[in-house]
Amino acid sequence: MKTIVIACPKGGTGKSTTSLHLAYGLHHAVDIPAGMLDAHAKVPLSTDHAPVTALLDTDPQMSAAVWSDACAEGLLGFPVLASPRPNVDKVVAAMNAPTDQLVIDTAGMAAEKNPAMTSAVLLADLVIIPVQASALDTWALEQFATMIRHRQTVTGGALQAALLITQAAPRSQLVAAARQELAEVVGLPILDTVIGRRKAYAEAAARGRTVFQLRDTAAQEEIASLTREVRALLHPVAVQPSAGDALKPGKPVDDLPVIPRFVPPSVSSLHAA
Ligand SMILES: Nc1ncnc2c1ncn2[C@@H]1O[C@H](COP(=O)(O)OP(=O)(O)O)[C@@H](O)[C@H]1O
Ligand SMILES: [Mg+2]
Repeated sequence: MKTIVIACPKGGTGKSTTSLHLAYGLHHAVDIPAGMLDAHAKVPLSTDHAPVTALLDTDPQMSAAVWSDACAEGLLGFPVLASPRPNVDKVVAAMNAPTDQLVIDTAGMAAEKNPAMTSAVLLADLVIIPVQASALDTWALEQFATMIRHRQTVTGGALQAALLITQAAPRSQLVAAARQELAEVVGLPILDTVIGRRKAYAEAAARGRTVFQLRDTAAQEEIASLTREVRALLHPVAVQPSAGDALKPGKPVDDLPVIPRFVPPSVSSLHAA
């Protein structure tokens, strides 16, 4: 199982929005163009089932869990569990459904007040840190990056971590400035994907949807791009297909899941069912 923890010591940076959309993106393989699915499935695979994703909400505010409760039955397609317990390892060990990809949402507080986040980082294969270009708190991020580096040292560098710029204003000069400042001060890799400030994200949360049920293709492409980058970090030897790109042979990957066909469910189809 690959565990992806979404964490940032600050509140309101887009952790829950990222968690729910990334889980949706991974579960439905929204990053793989339809024409590439058959070719992609020929990559040697060790699992004989479609990748099963789950989202675990460890924030006592439970915004991801409440959001998922507002979604129509079957719209997400993956389970969303909620537990504010500090020992996330115990919660994960008690999960009895087989899961290939677990996304963990965490509360936006500093590590010393946030045992669930610390415990989740200990389990993680990858930590994604959403930050808002317009409200960088580099001091808090530096502290958090130190904790991540410490964990990397004690586990021989196994943990990957990357910053994700979120809620960026269109054509914002702030994004370039934030990239530079984050690179200099925080020193963790920064994903190429930038999540824009878009009504669709706020509307999705308010209406029990994801951006794939709303008509914002720019937001959909952002989530596809995020999913692609996350998949590349989790499965570094797998070739990331792009339209028109022939599949190059890669070494067999132990736990690269079979990619299912992505058909976003519409809300009306769910109500009709
Ligand atoms: N990219 C975005 N564009 C517009 N609004 C956003 C975006 N990301 C998050 N929001 C809104 O900002 C608020 C905080 O987002 P949330 O994901 O709950 O942050 P966190 O989990 O880090 O506290 C929510 O109201 C959410 O709908
Ligand atoms: Mg949250």
